[in-house]
Amino acid sequence: MLVSYQKVDDIGVISIDNPPVNALSQGVRQGILDAIKSAEDDDIKAIVILCEGRTFIAGADISEFGKPVQEPTLPQLNTAIESSGKSVIAAIHGTALGGGFELALSCHYRCAQASASVGLPEVTLGLLPGAGGTQRVPRLIGVKAALDLMTTGNKAGANEARDLGLIDRVLKGDLKEAAMDYARELIAKGAGLRRVRDISIPATSFGKEAFEDYRQQLNKRKRGQEAPQKIVSCVEAAMDKPFEEGLAYERSCFVECVQSEQSAALRHIFFAERQAPKVAGIAKSVVPRPVQRVGIIGAGTMGGGIAMSFANAGIPVTLLDASEEGLERGLALIDKNYGISVSKGKLSEEQATEREALISGTVDYEELVDVDLVIEAVFESMDVKRQVFSRLDEVCKQGAILATNTSYLDVNEIAGSTSRPQDVVGLHFFSPANVMRLLEVVKAESTADEVITTAMALGKRIGKVPVLAGVCYGFIGNRMLRQYAREAQLCMIEGAEPAQIDGVLTNFGMAMGPLSVGDLAGLDIGYKARQALTDEQKGDPRSYCIADALVELGRLGQKAGAGYYKYDPDTRARSTDPVVLDVIREQARKHGVQRRELSDEEILDRHLLALINEGFRILEEGIAQRPGDIDVVYVHGYGFPSYRGGPMFYASQRGLGNVLGSIEKLYGATGEPYWAPAPLLKKLVASDLTLDDWMAGNG
Ligand code: 3HC
Repeated sequence: MLVSYQKVDDIGVISIDNPPVNALSQGVRQGILDAIKSAEDDDIKAIVILCEGRTFIAGADISEFGKPVQEPTLPQLNTAIESSGKSVIAAIHGTALGGGFELALSCHYRCAQASASVGLPEVTLGLLPGAGGTQRVPRLIGVKAALDLMTTGNKAGANEARDLGLIDRVLKGDLKEAAMDYARELIAKGAGLRRVRDISIPATSFGKEAFEDYRQQLNKRKRGQEAPQKIVSCVEAAMDKPFEEGLAYERSCFVECVQSEQSAALRHIFFAERQAPKVAGIAKSVVPRPVQRVGIIGAGTMGGGIAMSFANAGIPVTLLDASEEGLERGLALIDKNYGISVSKGKLSEEQATEREALISGTVDYEELVDVDLVIEAVFESMDVKRQVFSRLDEVCKQGAILATNTSYLDVNEIAGSTSRPQDVVGLHFFSPANVMRLLEVVKAESTADEVITTAMALGKRIGKVPVLAGVCYGFIGNRMLRQYAREAQLCMIEGAEPAQIDGVLTNFGMAMGPLSVGDLAGLDIGYKARQALTDEQKGDPRSYCIADALVELGRLGQKAGAGYYKYDPDTRARSTDPVVLDVIREQARKHGVQRRELSDEEILDRHLLALINEGFRILEEGIAQRPGDIDVVYVHGYGFPSYRGGPMFYASQRGLGNVLGSIEKLYGATGEPYWAPAPLLKKLVASDLTLDDWMAGNG
C-alpha cells in the first residue's frame, strides 16, 4: 500500500511507502488526501506525516511531467493539508526535496532528524517550486534567503534549516517515536494551527531595485536559463499579491516551465545520469570487488586531482611518482588546492587536513602491494604505459584492478602487457579531476564484468557520473571533440575570428568556446601530440596549421600570456590580437583558402553537427551504450549546456530529418568524407524512427 493511516492514541499517523524515494506519484497524492480526510473525521488531535524507507518524499514524480495531469494535483493536496482543522506535523528523515518539502511546508509544523536535509532543487530540472514553495518560503525565511535557496537548488541540513526557520524542531533518536513525542508536546501546550499562508513576509529592504540586481546576477550565473528568472518573478509576486493570487501565478509559471524545452532537456539529463552506470548484459548477481585502498601512478596535475577525488570520499590513496621531485611538486599542488578550498569556505581547515592525511606519497612500487585498485596517470606514451603496467603486474596483489587514465591509447594493448588482462580497465578522468564529474569507464576486450561493476560503483562512490565506453581512438568524448575542434580551425581559416567562434558557442551555452579552451589547456599539448603523428594521421593541414604557427611563435596559450588571444598579465582578461589575425590570413593564403564572412548560424551548425554525426557513428559501433550516455559525457566532461540536454538530445529535438538534411548539405558543399552522414542517422530517417525507437529495438 502506497499510503497507510493509523490511529495511535489521539494522533493519526499517515505513512508513505513508495520506494525508492517516496516520489509523489498520483497514487501517493490520492492516498495522502484520503488519509487526511479520514483523519479529519477521526477522534484525534494531531496528524503526523512520515515516510518508510530511506527518505522523506524526494519530490514530485519526475517521470509524470509532460504527461496529462491527474488529480489531485500537488497544490490541491497541499491546500487540503494546510486547511486541515487538526495540526499536521511533517516528520522528515533523509531528504525532503522539491514537492516533498513543499508538502512539508503546507503542514503546520516540521520536525526532522539531525541527519536529514531539505531543499527545493526544481531549478536543476528547469522548473520552479510549483506547489506553493515560492509563496511559502519567503513567508518563513524572508525574500533574500528564499531566492538563494530556490535559485541555487542547494540543500540545507536539519540544523541549518532550523536556524533559517524552515523547520521547527531537530529530533533525536527514532524518527517515529520522537515525532510522536513532539506532536504530544504541541497538543499539550495547545499550539494550534500555524498556517504558513497566514504569515506575513518579514519586512525587508529588498525592493524593486534589489530584485533587478538579483536578476542581473542570475543572468551571469545561470546564463541562458529561464527557470531561475521565473523564480524571482514568483517571489516578487509573493510580496505583491495576496497568497491565493501568488499561488495561481506560481502555478502558471510552473506549467510554462514543465512544457519548456529546457526542462525537458534537464529531465532527460537527470534520468540519463542515473541510467549511465547501468551496464547492459551484466547479470545482477555480479558484485563489485571491495575497494579500500587506491594507488595512483603519476603525481602530475591529473594524478593529484584523481588522488583528491578519492580522499574527498574518505578512501586512502598512495600516490607514486617516478621521482622525489615530481612527488614533492605533486603533493605541494594538492596542499595548495586544499588551501584554496579552505580559503573559499568550501571546506573547513579540519576537513582539509583530514582529507590530505589520506594521501601518502611514495616512489617505491612495493608500497602498492596491498592496493585494491591502481590508476595510472602518466605521460601519454604507449611505451611508458606498457612499462608501468608490467611493473604493476609484478607487484600488485591478485584481484587488484589495474586502470589506465589514458585519453586516447589502446586499452587492449595496455591490458596485453600484463598477465591479467581481465583486471585491466580504462578510468578516464577529466581535468581538473577533483572537480569534473565525468568518468569514462573503458571496457577492453578482456575486462571482466566484475571489474566494470566495481568501476561503476566506485565512480558513484566518489561522486562521479560513470559512463561506459568501448575502445577506440579518443573513446566517446575525445573522439567527438576532434570533429568539433576541427570545425573551429576550419571556420577560422575560412574567415571567422576566434572571438566570433567562441562567442557563438558560449551564446549557445557552452561553458567556454573551443579556442578559449585551447588557450587554457595550452596549445603546445596538441602540437606535441601532432609531432608524433604521420602526415596522414594528422589529417587536413588546414585543420591545424594556425595552431602550429601560433605555437611556433611562442604563443602557447594563457600560460604564455598569448595564444588565440592575448591576455592581460594582471587581470588575465583576454582580447583579440591583430598578430593572430595576421597569422590566420597568412595561413589561409598559404593553403589557398579564399576567406569569406561566416554567419553565426553556420559556425554553430558546423560545430554541433560535427559532434552529432560522430555521436551517431559511436552509437552504431557500440562504443556508447545509449544516446543518453553521450549526452552525459558532453554535459559533464565538455561544458555542453545541460539545459540543451547534450548533443544527441539536441539532435532529437531539432528533428533527425533536419539534422540529416543539414549534414548532407555540408557533405555536398565540401565533399569531405567526415561529412558523409552517419549510416545510423540515415537509417533512422529513412524508416522514420527516433533514437528512442532504435534503443527500444536494440534493448
Ligand atoms: N521522481 C521520479 N523518480 C525519482 C525521483 C523523482 N523525484 N527522484 C529519484 N528518482 C529515482 C531515480 O531516477 C532512481 O531511479 P533508478 O533506480 O531507476 O535509476 C531512483 O529514484 C534512485 O535515485 P538516485 O539514484 O538519485 O538515488 P540517491 O540516493 O543517489 O539520491 C535523491 C536520492 C537525493 C532523492 C535524488 O534521487 C534526487 O535528487 N532526486 C530528485 C529530487 C528532485 O529534484 N526533486 C524535485 C522534483 S520536481 C518537483 O518536486 C516539482 C514540484 O515543485 C511541484
